[in-house]
Amino acid sequence: MQNRRSFLRTSALGAAAAPVLLDGCAPEGPASSRAGSNVDPKDEIRPVALSTWDHGLAANDAAWEILTGGGSALDAAEAGVRVSEADPEVTSVGYGGRPDRSGHVTLDACIMDEQGRCGSVAFLQHIMHPISVARQVMEKTPHVMLVGQGALDFALVNGFEQENLLHPDAAAAWETWKDENGAAQPTIDIDNHDTIGMLTLDQAGNLSGACTTSGAAFKYHGRVGDSPIIGAGLYVDNEIGGATATGWGEAVIRAVGCFLVVELMRQGYTPQEACELAVERVIEKNPDWRSIQVGFIALGKNGDHGGFCIAPGFNYAIRTPDEGNRLLDSGSRI
Ligand code: GLY
Repeated sequence: MQNRRSFLRTSALGAAAAPVLLDGCAPEGPASSRAGSNVDPKDEIRPVALSTWDHGLAANDAAWEILTGGGSALDAAEAGVRVSEADPEVTSVGYGGRPDRSGHVTLDACIMDEQGRCGSVAFLQHIMHPISVARQVMEKTPHVMLVGQGALDFALVNGFEQENLLHPDAAAAWETWKDENGAAQPTIDIDNHDTIGMLTLDQAGNLSGACTTSGAAFKYHGRVGDSPIIGAGLYVDNEIGGATATGWGEAVIRAVGCFLVVELMRQGYTPQEACELAVERVIEKNPDWRSIQVGFIALGKNGDHGGFCIAPGFNYAIRTPDEGNRLLDSGSRI
């Protein structure tokens, strides 16, 4: 029978021909001990802030203040990604995000806590911090997801301010895109991709996550990607770990990527191995995989972490007590 190491090697080298199997090759032993629930406390790292891309460094700083002050993983994840949402230099999240093909900035976000509670908004316009609206959906309604005008109405009733989120630079980029592309399809390429996803582990050992984006630049009006879809763009299971995704959302949705990463960790794969296997699954499900980028990051219950992507260029930020705030280059399939 194929062992786990040879299976991983096979997957990494020849995944196009070899389906990623979830059964029959998982490490042995109860999930709780393998995935970190019963790890020796001296082997645990906490707190931890882990987030996608270099703008994750600033997001980690904001999360860190909360985590080191004894705050919750949930508060830290929300505060962290709000930094990227408000930063006009980050061109695919919140204010400064590139608009859709009709010139509208439409935002997607979701949040998930250690109790398995989750909230989400999609196709939301005019609100700077969709992640905070998602949190209020989680905390104030019996629902998980609100979209479009309903999400905007909910935000306004709950005290959020209506704003113009189309930054002049984004408007200029849209004008250029229109001149050059006219009615062309939105570009599917490895550059159209920098959602912020964040995973946090607090001093009490609880996990949470947040994910927020303006989505693919110049997408069709009404398009929603993976980022607000629980299980696709984000998933957290406080017994096991969490995962979040960046990249071409359609490809992540087809693989239910982040749920897959966490389920692989439940089977005993490390966060790094789980991200690598999930990338292989994305590749299997997306024949156009060579022209897209997808990246996953994952955080285990014990603070172990990993990241992997299809194409070179993805990086992620990790903040831990011992090693400070660092940017790591992700390994890639290509
Ligand atoms: N991953 C972000 C998006 O595709 O919208």
